[in-house]
Amino acid sequence: MDRCFSVISFITRLFNTAVCFARSGLWVIVFCTFFTGNTTAESLTDGPVVGAVTDTSAKVFVRVSGPGAVYLEYSTDPNLRFAMQSDVVYPRYRDDFTAIIPIDGLLPNRTYYYQVIVDGQPTLSSLSSFISFPPDHVNTEFSFAALADVGNSKSRGAPSYARLAIDEPRFLLQIGDWDHRDPQTLDEMRLMHREVRGQGMSSGRYFRDFIANTTPLYYVWDDHDYGMNDGDYTFPGKADAIKAYREYFPTPELPNPEAGIWQSFRYAQVEIFMLDVRSNRDPNTDTDDENKSMLNGENIENGQKEWLFSGLANSTAKWKIITSGVTFNPTTKPADAWGAFTTEWQEVVDFITANNIRNVLVLSGDLHSGGAFDDGTNAGVPEMSVPHSNMNMNDDHPTGITTHTPGTWTSGYIRGPENPGYVLVTVETNPDRLILEVKGVSGDIRMTETLESND
Ligand SMILES: [Fe+2]
Repeated sequence: MDRCFSVISFITRLFNTAVCFARSGLWVIVFCTFFTGNTTAESLTDGPVVGAVTDTSAKVFVRVSGPGAVYLEYSTDPNLRFAMQSDVVYPRYRDDFTAIIPIDGLLPNRTYYYQVIVDGQPTLSSLSSFISFPPDHVNTEFSFAALADVGNSKSRGAPSYARLAIDEPRFLLQIGDWDHRDPQTLDEMRLMHREVRGQGMSSGRYFRDFIANTTPLYYVWDDHDYGMNDGDYTFPGKADAIKAYREYFPTPELPNPEAGIWQSFRYAQVEIFMLDVRSNRDPNTDTDDENKSMLNGENIENGQKEWLFSGLANSTAKWKIITSGVTFNPTTKPADAWGAFTTEWQEVVDFITANNIRNVLVLSGDLHSGGAFDDGTNAGVPEMSVPHSNMNMNDDHPTGITTHTPGTWTSGYIRGPENPGYVLVTVETNPDRLILEVKGVSGDIRMTETLESND
């Protein structure tokens, strides 16, 4: 009996050793060494960036220098004791040697530290970390930040990132025009995604240095980072734009990943619906009637409008926050924002009203102002326009922003050129309300609005 047990034990240990060996990626090194004589390990060339966080899981983006074996070690212990391991992934040339690595088995509301292992070697000189989300049923107090419209000059930084890091937001929304270069090819799109987050760009350095390693990122494009000024579904580079985006960003599950990048996620009592206002948009010049759509211009199955309406109607979250790369308020920018789609804008507003969907807020980009707010009088639902991060510092346009049609906002709008910044949303519970602050790069508060819960 004892002998039988020891044989089983030996086989079990042999099996476990083989599994560990396979998961560690060391076999790749052994394989390469044996067959090619090459012992050079690949290196980490971009990332990590964390996103798609839930109370039990997350995803981490990495990019490496060539074919190799990559996995994560993660733990609530800052020295990675008792660390768990992700599955091993093998980034491929056809994906620009990027990978989105899922991790699971997390406990809610805990700080997780992690290391990126490439070809058996740790690559981060200091561990990255993030905080897992609370469960959906929790009603809790927290803050998150929203950014929009970052310039693409190598010499113009975006210190909003450095300042908002001090606020310790639980996540960051980047809601469009993270860059304004209009990339046309797959390689140009990939380069843009690397540069906005750190590679050689002043604005990207701020993201990399202050946000990327600690704060879950949720990002959806507007026109200039999609690739086509005032863009729509006719953009020839649409498939490449979607491919590059999916390579470089760790997103929640996309409802229709071949068609576009709209997505939603939940943090406690808040659900965020991030619209893709470009890849499924009809051309702006179409007649504004019931056939013209910003959300589903091609009338595809499993489309974005169906997803939005279903998501809003079925959401169990107290707060429903919609992000739009362009202003929802139809009195502003009528050539390219919702003002060019007033029939569909009215349909969205009517749907929210008819279904008694309460506590809806829109966060929008593209105004290039220093921030603006409407209580719903003009926008249909309460809307805060997120200030630009670093645009137009020397552009003293007559309106103070880059449009002749800044529109009507119940709280007005703040001039853009000298007022870059971001929005900090603080979710309070007693009473249930949102505190919306437009903040400058020095932390100065330029505008404060309060949304009380209608429940
Ligand atoms: Fe913009």
